Amino acid sequence: MNELNVVVDSAKAAFNQALTPADLENAKALFVGKSGRITELMKGMAALTAEEKKSRGAAINLAKQAIEAALTARREALADAELQVQLKAEALDVTLPGRLRGSGGLHPVSLTLERIESIFASMGFDVAQGPEIESDWFNFTALNTPEDHPARSMHDTFYVEGGLANAPNLLRTHTSPMQIRYAVQHVKQHRLQLEAGKNTETLFSGAMPEIRVIAPGRTYRVDSDATHSPMFHQCEGLWVGENVSFKDLKFVFTDFCRTFFESDDLVLRFRPSFFPFTEPSAEIDIQFQSGPLAGRWLEVAGSGQVHPNVIRSMGLDPEKFIGFAFGMGPDRLTMLRYGVNDLRLFFDGDIRFLAQFQ
Ligand code: PHE
Repeated sequence: MNELNVVVDSAKAAFNQALTPADLENAKALFVGKSGRITELMKGMAALTAEEKKSRGAAINLAKQAIEAALTARREALADAELQVQLKAEALDVTLPGRLRGSGGLHPVSLTLERIESIFASMGFDVAQGPEIESDWFNFTALNTPEDHPARSMHDTFYVEGGLANAPNLLRTHTSPMQIRYAVQHVKQHRLQLEAGKNTETLFSGAMPEIRVIAPGRTYRVDSDATHSPMFHQCEGLWVGENVSFKDLKFVFTDFCRTFFESDDLVLRFRPSFFPFTEPSAEIDIQFQSGPLAGRWLEVAGSGQVHPNVIRSMGLDPEKFIGFAFGMGPDRLTMLRYGVNDLRLFFDGDIRFLAQFQ
């Protein structure tokens, strides 16, 4: 093996031993640098004849080309290795499942409200909505609860700007103001129809259609613990006509409860109570005959026969019109239906709780 082949082989060996680009550049300097082996060999040609220089020069050049090719190959190999290391370090695990977008759904109390609405709609009840900021008149006075009436103290609420100086507006403490709002509209509409009927021959009998409505919505009281929230829901019910009795209330509410809880295995109790806007008044309790709540009386609504003064506030004659009203708690009904023991869970917005109802 001639001397040049030895140089080329030792260059290849040195390059292969270099494990980093910096090592490789140092190894390169030993062979093709300013004072490297090839440069020295070139210098060594000075004493040769022209003929000898030609063949020796060509041989050295070949050797130099071989060394440079080996250098390039090693450079590429090192760069490639570095890339592989980097790729490995920055690798994405494409086998991880993606994050799906949740589909969302209705709040459990909304599910209850929808249920209440459809059950009462099937019994011929209209569904009405009203304002949450209410006047003193609709929330209290029109409901036979004048200023200074002791029953007002049980409805401590949040007063807001607006309204009369001595009777400011407030966040409604119950949905009962909707009894008045709805009835007044109903009576007005009936009067307008009567007026129209005066001038034309109509089939209209002249009798006012019965008032049959429920009014679900948000209500407010200064109250907060595991079973009371400063914002809560109520659903008012009102049925007024010329011949509506407590018997109808019992039938309607019993039928509602059995449909709502999908069980005939429950009984109702009408427990005497007091509300300024009903006389007589009753709390409605239910008792399941089987299941986890069996045997306990659970209060679900206040109710009663609409007080004559309230019938007057509606613009009707209490000698002619009579009816009943009730106000129930959809939050409570939701707790009973799903076995939830803390009302605050409904309003915390914790997705782990809410997702269970979808
Ligand atoms: N408004 C009453 C309450 O909030 C409930 C009720 C409504 C009672 C209708 C009788 C009639 O406690």
